[in-house]
Amino acid sequence: MNLVERDLKVIWHPYTQMQTAAPPIPIVKGEGSVLFDENGDAYIDAVSSWWVNIHGHSHPYIAQKVAEQLLKLEHVIFAGFTHEGAVELAERLLAILPNNQSKVFYSDNGSTAIEVAIKMCLQYWHNQGAPRTKILALKNAYHGDTFGAMAVSGRSAFTNVFESLLFEVEFIDLPNKDNIESIKSQVSSIKTELACFIFEPLLQGSGGMLMYEAQYLDQLMAHCRGENVLTIADEVLTGFGRTGKRFACDHLQQQPDIMCFSKGLTGGTMALGVTTCTQAIYDAFLSDDKLKTLFHGHSFTANPIACASALANMDLFLMPETMDNIQRIEERHSRFALKIGHHPKLKEVRQTGTIIAMEWETGGQTSYFSNLRDKLYQYFLSKGIILRPLGNVLYILPPYCISNEQLDYIYTEIEAALEIF
Ligand SMILES: Cc1ncc(COP(=O)(O)O)c(C=O)c1O
Repeated sequence: MNLVERDLKVIWHPYTQMQTAAPPIPIVKGEGSVLFDENGDAYIDAVSSWWVNIHGHSHPYIAQKVAEQLLKLEHVIFAGFTHEGAVELAERLLAILPNNQSKVFYSDNGSTAIEVAIKMCLQYWHNQGAPRTKILALKNAYHGDTFGAMAVSGRSAFTNVFESLLFEVEFIDLPNKDNIESIKSQVSSIKTELACFIFEPLLQGSGGMLMYEAQYLDQLMAHCRGENVLTIADEVLTGFGRTGKRFACDHLQQQPDIMCFSKGLTGGTMALGVTTCTQAIYDAFLSDDKLKTLFHGHSFTANPIACASALANMDLFLMPETMDNIQRIEERHSRFALKIGHHPKLKEVRQTGTIIAMEWETGGQTSYFSNLRDKLYQYFLSKGIILRPLGNVLYILPPYCISNEQLDYIYTEIEAALEIF
């Protein structure tokens, strides 16, 4: 039996209809922006392997740091114990985040970082004897697949089956100049029930690479602050350079109370989640009463290998070359957007930082289930490019080390696809 046959016998893949999906491609090696399958065929990873990879695959520096850590300490329980990597990472992370962030809580992935953030907010109010249970979130949001994260995500095919089990959330449209005042009134009318407002700053990824302006988010955050409603910025996707600045919140004047990170946090090498918060939130859990403790933790909380990987990522991320690469990609995307922006097959081309999205005109509604998706996916695979459209929304979200030649090749193939589909 070959690897694919063995896989199909024992494995259930994520977000995959196993009856109809094409067999998985066995990848044996990764280098820079390229993945190689067992036949030696190369694929440019234009989606950074589900948006996690920043500096390229099997980066020698991250590999070295992880290997060194493996020989020192692979894991230790994080309740009652600590270790150098976790402390250094927290120190270095807080040094580059908005300056109101003062404590770091570790978990395993993006969804768990969100769960922690939601629990922090709900218990923040509870611990002060004034419980609040409502959460404000954006339509089309995606915050993860665990139950709390699903509850604050927009209602969609991903959540429908579980709808009756999801807690109540007040959903609002993306803020813009026309609706900002009515959203503010809505917040004011329920402010005493609202524990927090959670949002993906500037960019809703899974929702279809939907983009919105910093200024209206800023206004809404300022209003929440004025009305004493906590704010959670989900930077799981936007963090670590994706939007052209280190963090999407760096485009804002306001600072969120809580921030969530994963994906690029370790350069895409290890699974790690981080939730950071203000001193005020942390202080609300300090008490002689043990019941005011945040009862949350995972076996692999602050895993030393994951922290070593995140520290190595931080070294690379803070090198000037990385920001140069981010700007280079941003400029190239902008030029490409100008070139194809008026193509009759495209409803819209939009860009935030290193992400460019092209919404195909299908004659129907924008949909995750558009038939176009599989055609485009297979077409680009046949050209040695991994692009995984969200329905009829095709997007490029590359590792920052992608070369100009690789980008140009992707652009050329997208133009070719526009002639075919
Ligand atoms: C904005 C955002 N939040 C949270 C998550 C969940 O992260 P994870 O897949 O690591 O659970 C994702 C994943 O795509 C995301 O894009």
